[in-house]
Amino acid sequence: MNLPVEQPATPPFVFPRFPTTRGRRYVVRVAELISHSPAETATLGEHWGRTVACGCVIALHGDLGAGKTQWVKGLARGLGITARVHSPTFTLVNVYPGGRLSLFHLDLYRLETPDQIHEAGLEEYLTPDGVTVIEWAERWPLLNPEPAPPTAAASRALRRVWIEIIGDTQRRIYHEDPGA
Ligand SMILES: Nc1ncnc2c1ncn2[C@@H]1O[C@H](COP(=O)(O)OP(=O)(O)OP(=O)(O)O)[C@@H](O)[C@H]1O
Ligand SMILES: [Mg+2]
Repeated sequence: MNLPVEQPATPPFVFPRFPTTRGRRYVVRVAELISHSPAETATLGEHWGRTVACGCVIALHGDLGAGKTQWVKGLARGLGITARVHSPTFTLVNVYPGGRLSLFHLDLYRLETPDQIHEAGLEEYLTPDGVTVIEWAERWPLLNPEPAPPTAAASRALRRVWIEIIGDTQRRIYHEDPGA
């Protein structure tokens, strides 16, 4: 299946980018596409899985049922992971070895406060030996400019994908360049 047609986009929200330690800012290239089915959303994730570099942290944004886990299923497929992917509801993190790169799948939905996230001790996943993908990334202050600055390591390798529900089977997806 081909990827849906993309176009350069200015998303209606801020894709945070942070100053590096040398004071330079990252250039963010964001594309927008419309997905018409869960399979198309997974196909976009699959494309990322084939191109993403080791150490990348992917922050997924979007409401309940937007399609974040669908996207991760494709990501795993693109990485060559054959295990069945499901949301890490009870464990916070699912680890999938065996692909081109290991995949660490986090879901912060049940962690409602920054303190709960801090106490969960998940920082090691910001510098993965593989790829980390995080559902409900907006809950983690380290991944967002306020209130705490991100770690340099997280900002250097951070990519964002944002999925918006626009119909029963239609989703608007904004995503950064996986290879940027
Ligand atoms: N274009 C689409 N892309 C993705 N999912 C779609 C699409 N159209 C319909 N769906 C449906 O929306 C649901 C998305 O579920 P999914 O678990 O991936 O969402 P989620 O963003 O991970 O939600 P949660 O925040 O609960 O983890 C599925 O039932 C899927 O079949
Ligand atoms: Mg999910």
